[in-house]
Amino acid sequence: MTASIQDRVDAAIDLAERAGELAMEMRPPSGSAQASLKGPQDWVTEADGAVERFLSGELAAAFPADGFQGEEGGITRTGRLRWIVDPIDGTANFARGGARFCVSIACFDGDLPLIGAIAAPALRETVWAWRGGGAWLNGEAIRTAETRDPAQAIMEVGWSRRSPDADYLKLCGHILAGGTSLRQGGSGALGLADVAAGRLDGYAELHINLWDVAAALVILREAGAIVSDFMAGGGATAGNALIACAPGLADAWSGLPGLPRPGAIVAG
Ligand code: IPD
Repeated sequence: MTASIQDRVDAAIDLAERAGELAMEMRPPSGSAQASLKGPQDWVTEADGAVERFLSGELAAAFPADGFQGEEGGITRTGRLRWIVDPIDGTANFARGGARFCVSIACFDGDLPLIGAIAAPALRETVWAWRGGGAWLNGEAIRTAETRDPAQAIMEVGWSRRSPDADYLKLCGHILAGGTSLRQGGSGALGLADVAAGRLDGYAELHINLWDVAAALVILREAGAIVSDFMAGGGATAGNALIACAPGLADAWSGLPGLPRPGAIVAG
């Protein structure tokens, strides 16, 4: 029997949670980072590879015609429906025994985000959505915040060495000048999930990769967030700048330096 989208929704949630358990078993103790560097401040642990291999194998067995792309191994299978996985997002936190990390699994139809599941095992939270099916946190429906005033808002600005520090500081300066409180939590996927759940009013990053945002894109859409068009200009392969926010702040946060307009709802 041909697998349906619902089969894939169920698999995404189940596999994100099982992969999260595997990551928990492999989580280093608190202390100095137990990880290697892929680049400046870009960490990888044994668990990243193990979780990605687990997900790749399970998805190949369940949906042999689907494509697969992981943060660590790249594109290993192609197909119209394709899975995009970040085995551990928030690796820098994870590598030091921290709790703010997650497994992120998305299924796209071409460039259209269909399904997203993000499991944060140490926080005991799973967030998921599918196109037309709403956005959910541990089974409860979620929506973006109703905040309208930047001076009452909280925004996370993700950071990596892929963007110049001067640009990061300029962006943060503009946001702070509007009276907004700033946060940097070390997991793009969880920051974006927090926007969907109304815990944050916005998430912005000057450059972020597809696997970090893939699951969150459909979750944000279903929760009513306003999101810049991540796939524009080759975002799927090269990464992109991104801003996602509660609808009441989209005007105030248009034109922030280095960011696209938060005007276009997620691709499609
Ligand atoms: C990183 C995290 C971080 C974000 C970076 C990502 P990783 O992913 O999501 O919060 O700011 O852009 O590279 O390395 O933890 O998978």
